Amino acid sequence: MLGSSNGAAGWNLAGFIKVADFGRGAAEALTRPAFDYYASGAHDEITLRENRAAFERLALRYRVLRDVSRRDMATSVLGESIAMPLMIAPTAFHKLACDEGEIATARAAAAAGTVMVLSTLSNTAMEDVAKAARAMWFQLYVYKDRGATRGLVARAEAAGARAIVLTVDAPLLGTRERDVKNRFGLPPGLRVENLLPAGMADVPPAMGSGLAAYFSELIDPALSFADVEWLASLTKLPVVVKGVVRGDDAARAVASGARAVVVSNHGGRQLDTSPATIDVLAEVIDAVAGRAEVLIDGGVRRGTDVLKAVALGARAVLVGRPILWGLATAGEAGARRVLELLRAELDLAMALCGTPTLADLTPDLVRC
Ligand code: FNR
Repeated sequence: MLGSSNGAAGWNLAGFIKVADFGRGAAEALTRPAFDYYASGAHDEITLRENRAAFERLALRYRVLRDVSRRDMATSVLGESIAMPLMIAPTAFHKLACDEGEIATARAAAAAGTVMVLSTLSNTAMEDVAKAARAMWFQLYVYKDRGATRGLVARAEAAGARAIVLTVDAPLLGTRERDVKNRFGLPPGLRVENLLPAGMADVPPAMGSGLAAYFSELIDPALSFADVEWLASLTKLPVVVKGVVRGDDAARAVASGARAVVVSNHGGRQLDTSPATIDVLAEVIDAVAGRAEVLIDGGVRRGTDVLKAVALGARAVLVGRPILWGLATAGEAGARRVLELLRAELDLAMALCGTPTLADLTPDLVRC
């Protein structure tokens, strides 16, 4: 294993009863640079912490004496049926966590009956991931080389991706100081497989961070709303815009052709002191006014977080690091367990809130 010093084999998952346990497992399993790359946020990591703190601040005004003997959390996103309102966020470089990398993630997502969003920066080619997935969306970074970018979109379509997720909060890479200190880069043998044909697959360690250097050299900081229209015209797949924290931006994204937006601050990894996502969800919901689906990520670690996000109007949430912690701790089995824990916690939260269906989740549950 390249990024980790410990195999998954020795772990007894019985003792892993919450997502945070997998965070500790990952800290033990991974090399320091790999763990830091996954865990870190930008600069002082204020937004990273705030994503969590904001969920924790919201109290749940539960209802009583509702029949909760049967509960149903199945839903759909952009017409895709999912077993629960929780999907896998795009995160780069899963082979730092375990040898099977993104294939393990795809299988865990399929087992949980949900969508995996595959990062442009995966260590496994998208065609191979799509084969292992039940439903894959492809996250797109727009390269200065628009020909290479068009190639990625065409390949994603041909591979059977069901949506293109355009990440818009990373014109440059945020400074993750832990990566700077570690001079983070991919260890020998790991590459950005999707960019192999375009000759942009290597992320060597560098002064500063190797990934930050990769971004500033190759990713297009000139991206604008016109490019959302460009992308929507380029593909028959629905376009999802990921990384908005303002109502006006969300409304413009939708007017430019986005079928869904993801309220996201990149897990606190881009602009530090940007707001916690759950705190801006209502503004985005209001601005979008039902014209597109609204998803959210950032700091979801408990079933109650999922419930709060859906109650405030999100169609579904995405989780990033919890999956990486699962993979690092025990490969596919770890990622599966993480998804199962979140599902079970949401089920319990729905029962205890007196909300047997997702339609029962309304803003008054979290607003005083
Ligand atoms: C990310 N994220 C991300 N987003 C994206 O659009 N493309 C990418 O390649 C990556 N890569 C990535 C790597 C790592 C290690 C992390 C932690 C995150 C952001 C990701 O999609 C998501 O917005 C956050 O991870 C959500 O926050 P939580 O669940 O990690 O708190």
